[in-house]
Amino acid sequence: MSLPTKIANVDFEHCIFNASGPSCATLEELDIIGKSGAAAIMTKSCTLKPREGNPEPRYTGLPLGSINSMGLPNLGYKKYVEMVPLLKKHGKPVVMSVSGLCLADNIEMLRAINDTDADLVELNLSCPNVVGKPQIGYDFEQTDEVLTKVMKLVRKPLGVKLPPYFDFAHYKQIAELLNKHKVKFVTCINSIGNALYIDPDKEAPVIKPKGGFGGLGGKYVKPTALANVHKFAELLDPSIDIIGVGGINNGTDVFEFILAGAKAVQLGTVFQEEGPETFARIEKEFNELMKKKGYASIEEIRGKLKAL
Ligand code: DHB
Repeated sequence: MSLPTKIANVDFEHCIFNASGPSCATLEELDIIGKSGAAAIMTKSCTLKPREGNPEPRYTGLPLGSINSMGLPNLGYKKYVEMVPLLKKHGKPVVMSVSGLCLADNIEMLRAINDTDADLVELNLSCPNVVGKPQIGYDFEQTDEVLTKVMKLVRKPLGVKLPPYFDFAHYKQIAELLNKHKVKFVTCINSIGNALYIDPDKEAPVIKPKGGFGGLGGKYVKPTALANVHKFAELLDPSIDIIGVGGINNGTDVFEFILAGAKAVQLGTVFQEEGPETFARIEKEFNELMKKKGYASIEEIRGKLKAL
């Protein structure tokens, strides 16, 4: 059974691919995703210049997920621009994640990406791990300014990666901006920023940067991710596609995100922990569940969460 989907009118063979984050920073890692069962290839969020990232340990798997403070280690946008033709050879959509340290950086990178064959761009407004750089998505004025500037120049379908929101008033404010600027898709959620996990034996945090504060991912965050997907499905213009991410571990999780309103999903922690086989496993589980329930397409269930 094939369950295709579309993001910003780009065809995806199925709805599951990698989140920008784990194992997507080098050509070797991206080729592995290209050869895997992932429906698309997403690159690590890039910056203007290459970055080493934060000191290690900066990622730790936890009983129900992960915590990280990677600090945007990446090769610099020029290398990802050069890689696009190589990645396109895998025959699936290539999505470039961009996370400039300032607006001018984002503008320069997006201009260069305009001239590539990348299919989609995900502008990251939610990195929690760069010291001294607050998450843009929590600053509505700055988000408005960034989107005003970038939507004028971008020629690729542009979506935004959002931090999790927790308050209905905040959802309303950010959704109004996303509708006003007509972004093409929204990816939610980024990790829950600035969590703290303590190792009681060592009497210390489990990661080194920022005194142990880092982005929480995996099963801990799934209900928050589902809430964000569902609330945005209610508030966003129906032309804006939603990609769900946060704590997806199996086919049933994918089903729940589609019910909440997502058109596709991304895998972060589970990909880091299980490796590239995770894409085919979770797709198979999702297909089997859909078949068992008698559904033949994603659109039959998308956003159809029932009321109790
Ligand atoms: C990093 C973490 C994020 O959550 C993100 O959106 C971008 C970068 C990082 O620490 O590398």
